[in-house]
Amino acid sequence: MGAALKDSSVAVREDRLWQRHADMAKLGGTPKGGVNRQALSAEDAAARNLLMSWAAARGFQTFTDTIGNLFVRRDGADGNAPPVMSGSHMDSQPTGGRFDGMYGVLAAFEALEALEDAGIRTRRPVIAVAWTNEEGSRFQPGAMGSAVFAGHNRLDDMLAVKDWKGVVLKDALDETLKAAPAPLRDGPPGFPVGFYVEAHIEQGPRLEKAERTIGVVTAIQGSRRFIVEIDGEEAHAGTTPRAARKDAFAAATRVAAAMYEATNDRDDALRFTIGRVEVAPGSPNTVPGKATFTIDMRHPSDAVLDVHEKKLRDIVATKAKPCPARIERITNVAPTDFDPKVIDLVRAKARALKLTHMDMPSGAGHDAMHIAKLCPAGMIFVPCERGVSHNESENATPADLAAGARVLVGVLEELANR
Ligand code: GLV
Ligand code: MN
Ligand code: MN
Repeated sequence: MGAALKDSSVAVREDRLWQRHADMAKLGGTPKGGVNRQALSAEDAAARNLLMSWAAARGFQTFTDTIGNLFVRRDGADGNAPPVMSGSHMDSQPTGGRFDGMYGVLAAFEALEALEDAGIRTRRPVIAVAWTNEEGSRFQPGAMGSAVFAGHNRLDDMLAVKDWKGVVLKDALDETLKAAPAPLRDGPPGFPVGFYVEAHIEQGPRLEKAERTIGVVTAIQGSRRFIVEIDGEEAHAGTTPRAARKDAFAAATRVAAAMYEATNDRDDALRFTIGRVEVAPGSPNTVPGKATFTIDMRHPSDAVLDVHEKKLRDIVATKAKPCPARIERITNVAPTDFDPKVIDLVRAKARALKLTHMDMPSGAGHDAMHIAKLCPAGMIFVPCERGVSHNESENATPADLAAGARVLVGVLEELANR
């Protein structure tokens, strides 16, 4: 190990962390400066290989599990102590940014490097993790790797999931692990974890507006996803009178309009999104025989989500007529409260580093919401430009990213010695 600097946070290198983001951004890079690196794609495999090459250069061990989560481990003094873990995801939205998820993985890796450079030996091992398929845009549900790791979803159910083109997840995972091979930890995913702390860009405007560098994340709101399927009847667009039509898309617009109305709460706390609509057979001169759309709904209170889920179900039952319609819930993740000890420690480290900070809940979902069921967990946010995310123009400053990594490594070091 290198010269003993005795303080891991001073060993965080802003230039190295920024360059690693730039290197990763080339994998699936888009002309508009974002990334399209969807889960278990060739681009995802390339990112895995790059991370593993960096790990090998530093002498860290890498391994994967049966859902493809990728772990990079720096040993501790006590080989039996459950590790401290930190990370996020390397997959992106189809029009994703360079920082969503990737920052959490690279900040965790920077923490491992900083500990190494500072010559600090921790009691527990410290693991950087890249969870499989956090975004859930290609394969549903999202946060899949962490959900399986935490026992929220069954491995076999997830391996059978298909993407929008009918590709089975197990096949895409096999391909990915063939292209980016890592030693496999056999058996069902999951092992004892001491603590988990995830760094992420905020993905909203609050830190920037308040001119604070560090978000001390206290909670994540609850989220539910649904698929609505409406059956119509294909018919000739030129000859079929209105009364004789069973137009699946027309029914979908009635259902969707009623849902927007029912979820338009006065305090603007409920988040309701229809993000994907498919109409079949997709011919301009055939009345649609089928319409399918997704719903993503979120709120800090499970009781409020219950009320609105009932409203959505009633709307599907009444507004699609005469077309038969179904709504299926495919995810339900309850609101998460992070561990008070981890929250306090994040705040204390930010203060010790003289970084401006504020407590805040997360509107976005993160892998930490599942891992928080296994061990004390928390999160660290840094600002992103104008709060824009899930967009190719997503941006953050090298200084803010490094500040978050400094808080992270300080927190990890302390937890790894508990
Ligand atoms: C993660 O990207 C989410 O949808 O919250
Ligand atoms: Mn993310
Ligand atoms: Mn995302």
